[in-house]
Amino acid sequence: MQEDLFKRLVAHCKEYGFVYPSSEVYDGLGGVYDYGPMGVELKNNIKEYWWRAMVQMHENIVGLDSAIFMHPLIWKASGHVDAFNDPLVDNKDSKKRFRADVLIEGEIDKMNGKAEKEVEKAAKRFGESFDEKMFRETNPRVLEYTQKAIDVEKRLAKALKEENMADIKAIIDELEIADPDSGSRNWTDVRQFNLMFSTQLGNISGEEGKLYLRPETAQGIFVNFSNVQKTTRQKIPFGIAQIGKAFRNEIVARQFIFRMREFEQMEMQFFVRPGTEMEWYEKWKEKRMAWHKAVTPAEKLKFKDHDNLAHYANAAVDVQFDFPFGFKELEGIHSRTDFDLSSHSNLSGKKITYFDPEINEHYVPYVVETSVGCDRMFLSILSNAFAEEQVPDAQGEDSKRIVLRLAPSLAPVKCAVLPIVKNKEELVGKAREVFDRLKLHFLCQYDEKDAIGRRYRRQDAIGTPYCVTIDFETIENDTVTIRERDSMKQDRISISEVVRIVRERTDMANILA
Ligand code: GAP
Repeated sequence: MQEDLFKRLVAHCKEYGFVYPSSEVYDGLGGVYDYGPMGVELKNNIKEYWWRAMVQMHENIVGLDSAIFMHPLIWKASGHVDAFNDPLVDNKDSKKRFRADVLIEGEIDKMNGKAEKEVEKAAKRFGESFDEKMFRETNPRVLEYTQKAIDVEKRLAKALKEENMADIKAIIDELEIADPDSGSRNWTDVRQFNLMFSTQLGNISGEEGKLYLRPETAQGIFVNFSNVQKTTRQKIPFGIAQIGKAFRNEIVARQFIFRMREFEQMEMQFFVRPGTEMEWYEKWKEKRMAWHKAVTPAEKLKFKDHDNLAHYANAAVDVQFDFPFGFKELEGIHSRTDFDLSSHSNLSGKKITYFDPEINEHYVPYVVETSVGCDRMFLSILSNAFAEEQVPDAQGEDSKRIVLRLAPSLAPVKCAVLPIVKNKEELVGKAREVFDRLKLHFLCQYDEKDAIGRRYRRQDAIGTPYCVTIDFETIENDTVTIRERDSMKQDRISISEVVRIVRERTDMANILA
């Protein structure tokens, strides 16, 4: 059911110009997507929402736009050359490549799924008298499945931490995991695969000229720490925010724009006095969750602590969203210690410290990072907004609609201007006049083709919050109807009020507040 819904959402994205497969005329390029006319507007609005919440709303956070290409030693210092790997396994029969940890996690999900099935069956059998808590705690089958899932999860986390590829392979063999498509259990050994894309500088050959496409935007912030601090005279605690492309050679890129090889990150590094990082980590967890909750229902969001910390972190949590394929990471919040600044200082030989006038001390700041994928945010916003519904009192083709219930300030088009008929010069002239006035303030669409019901459906499908209709009464008294997308309610208002009303209701301040 959810899978079907996801397929329809992906098809909708293409049909209405949100997201296209990249290079489609050449049959596409795996894990790469292009944003169409509606997609680019929604994405820009998401970026604006983030930027304003982080930079505009915080006096102590400033912006940066660092280059994608950076000195190759940056990736040595950051640990990405040696430790930015995923465990990879090939199936010798199907010749397909998999992430070994993802295969095992799939098995863990199956074990938990079996336990849930037992609970569901018992709930049906016992009806009202069913005591779920007691059943979970005592039923031998439920206990066996859940314990097994916990054991495998722990063993996988340990093996990943210790980079014990042999044990990861042993888990695959012991659980008799098969290639999901071919059913073959004929696996190669598990080996580490570095996720960075590399390229070559034109004028330097060999290893020395090897460059990487950045796998995270964060390093551009770290290496600019002293520049930004000195030029802005910010005092700790302060943050640097950046939005930009990142690249990862994902072994398996799937689930549409959830896991891509080229994607965009919105990252903020918050520099703090050593010893205060956990306090700031908690504060940023809270602030970031509030940012998500302003545009997403609370029940679709949750925190998930990391079992397996990245090489730079002493605490890490994901904000997960309930995607159509289950709860998955939307944003990562990490306490990154002084790992990055110290490493860059050691490898470059340049001092990267801060003088704290309050305690009269030089130190290497600690860092709390918030990092959210713009594309994942786009997918979460769209999948939450996508609804298929019956339209009361409508007939035939117009009786069903797909509506994107986007927050009005995020919607690509804020207002559509629709003359009720297209062959009345007076009406069309008036509609054009209203449109010309509105387009100074918002992205609007003018549409006169097809019956009015059909035109409303087209606007609903791209999430336009307001439709302004010009009818015969408009010519008499300069009033129009304004239709609200979700309730489909129409009000009659004066033309002179349209800009104010649409502006107030689509203002980003509504969600920023
Ligand atoms: N600087 C820290 C960092 O990069 P991460 O958890 O690897 O941490 C942060 O990535 C966010 O970037 C993720 O929460 C996710 O939203 C997004 N992201 C990571 N890999 C991605 C991919 N292959 N495709 C789309 N988004 C991705």
